[in-house]
Amino acid sequence: MSKKTFYITTPIYYPSDKLHIGHTYCTVAADAMARYKRQQGFDVMFLTGTDEHGLKIEQKAKAAGTTPKQFVDNIVIGPNGILDLWKLMNVSYDRFIRTTDDYHIESVQKIFKTLYEKGEIYKSVYRGKYCTPCESFWTDSQLVDGKCPDCGRDVIDAEEEAYFFRLSKYTDRIIKLYEENPSFLEPESRRNEMINNFLKPGLEDLCVSRTSFKWGIPVDFDPNHVVYVWIDALSNYITALGYLNGKYEDFERYWPADVHFVGKEIVRFHAIIWPSLLMALDLPLPKQIFGHGWLLFDGGKMSKSRGNVVDPAILVDRYGVDALRYFLLREFPFGTDGNFSNELLINRINSDLANDLGNLVSRTGAMAEKYFGGTLPAEREEGDVDKELLDMVAALPAVFCDYMEKYAFQSALQEVFKVISRANKYIDQTMPWALFKDDSKKARLASVLYNLLETIRVCSILLWPVMPETSEKIWKLIGASGEQTTSESAKVWGVLPADVTVSKGDVLFPRLDVEKELAALLDAKATAEAASQEQPQAPAEAKEAKKEKPAPAEQITIDEFAKVEMKVGKVLVCERVPKSSKLLRFELDMGDHTRQVLSGIAKWYEPEKLVGRHVVVVSNLKPVKMMGLESNGMIVSSVGDDDVPHLLFADDAAPGAKLC
Ligand code: ME8
Ligand code: MG
Repeated sequence: MSKKTFYITTPIYYPSDKLHIGHTYCTVAADAMARYKRQQGFDVMFLTGTDEHGLKIEQKAKAAGTTPKQFVDNIVIGPNGILDLWKLMNVSYDRFIRTTDDYHIESVQKIFKTLYEKGEIYKSVYRGKYCTPCESFWTDSQLVDGKCPDCGRDVIDAEEEAYFFRLSKYTDRIIKLYEENPSFLEPESRRNEMINNFLKPGLEDLCVSRTSFKWGIPVDFDPNHVVYVWIDALSNYITALGYLNGKYEDFERYWPADVHFVGKEIVRFHAIIWPSLLMALDLPLPKQIFGHGWLLFDGGKMSKSRGNVVDPAILVDRYGVDALRYFLLREFPFGTDGNFSNELLINRINSDLANDLGNLVSRTGAMAEKYFGGTLPAEREEGDVDKELLDMVAALPAVFCDYMEKYAFQSALQEVFKVISRANKYIDQTMPWALFKDDSKKARLASVLYNLLETIRVCSILLWPVMPETSEKIWKLIGASGEQTTSESAKVWGVLPADVTVSKGDVLFPRLDVEKELAALLDAKATAEAASQEQPQAPAEAKEAKKEKPAPAEQITIDEFAKVEMKVGKVLVCERVPKSSKLLRFELDMGDHTRQVLSGIAKWYEPEKLVGRHVVVVSNLKPVKMMGLESNGMIVSSVGDDDVPHLLFADDAAPGAKLC
């Protein structure tokens, strides 16, 4: 009989910037899952890759003075690129797809053509409104009081020939899909968001080609058009299996996918557009989309965080890859956002890995060596306190697997560490050092150590998908190998031979001094940044281009500047504006009054995290209306090369204080 298959994917990443710890989150989770399923005997296909087309990449390449292909090559396969990062993180993908790969391009062109021939894609004219400063097209229904819903400015009429996908006709089928198969989209909160924000209002046909830029897959029967980057990108999940191409022959074997792991902001593409496309192609749907939360840095989803080190290379260098992998999956529930900080990481390493796991392994090894020269005698004597530990260990694999099957990594790991703590307590209860002093207690001492070794064996098997290197080290220490380390053997007690030989080994996770570590991390970051500035990153012309780029800002007089009033406001209320993916609504305490301000930062900030913070507001702007709400002023943020806004906080300043 052929093995059961398990097909899991991560999003394919935009190679537009260096990846940070947030990007590794999903990939590490998918890797743990892939390893777990392999361990269970599944035939696993774990796919990841890069999403290399689109206007953003074209512009970035231009700014760097390279061709788009050179630009993405550098970030994907270049030194310290994405491939190197996955190697560093011990990500055991089975296949890596780049959307610039020939076979993918070929398939996407065929998919587009098939849909066109079936009448699922039609050519029309994109008529709409265009906001020039925002460079975005809007439909009439999206405008707010006739203005750009993002910035509130005037829009102009625009027309562009384009292809459209008949997404609108799938509204009911997608609603039905969620109703009949609620687990199609998890967690449940994401399902409600899709229903309320997109499906209930009704889907509109989707513009799926562009003529305004070139860096994309050309529509082969109409080469002025390039395929919309999301159609290109989503298709990767099937083109990587060989759908409509000759490169692979795995489509029958692995499709439909068991799960697509995706970040919450791209759930809409995966849970609405992707199933609609598959329906249009008459293909089976993936079994599940899981929309995970974000790692937040200083309250925002930003790539550059001032007070923290978010470069995975630095963190792995200092703490090892397993500590980082464990932290990511243990610290935050997978389905919701979590606040990343170096302090949390260090504390987690200390409490769980150094104190609990590391300590258990090293104490047990040291005692086996000291009391029996490493090899246990075969005699046994059971004790009253054994039962509780043995029962816990016996129950653990089933509970652990239940959580893993639900992608509840945090809970699964928590269960293992409950047993690890219990085993440490068992040492204190049984007091092996006292047993050692009593010659008549040798058999009891051997039992105690054996029970500890078996507990360690079972826990390390379960931990292997998350911390493979650590588990393998532990197996060496406790003398476990082959059949003694399989997931089946984790369900069985007494697998190690009675006269097992154990060694002490090195400390698995040294205890860290929190304050010193925090400082050392920032030093390491500064050193890495200095080094990267010394290294020429791009060809010489690119540097030239960069140098002349920042056009000097127009100069103004002090009187002109004085017209701008900026004040500190304390956030009393902050919430998402319904139906807007961009806007947050703030109520600010301005010292002598409260006012409402809207800000287009919803993609990067969690509203709850901003309550209580003091922000800087341009307070004498004429009010504008967005999404039917009035905004009185503008919240100030800075924007770096990554186009991500970073709010400027003024927590030490009093509400109403004026900036001068
Ligand atoms: O969206 N915490 O690519 P991308 C958690 N190319 N996850 C994060 C994160 C953070 N701080 N920052 C980013 C794309 N991510 C498309 C996908 S799939 C057919 C195409 C996650 O590089 C983010 O949520 O912008 C997303 O799932 C993934 O990184 C890739 O983001
Ligand atoms: Mg094929």
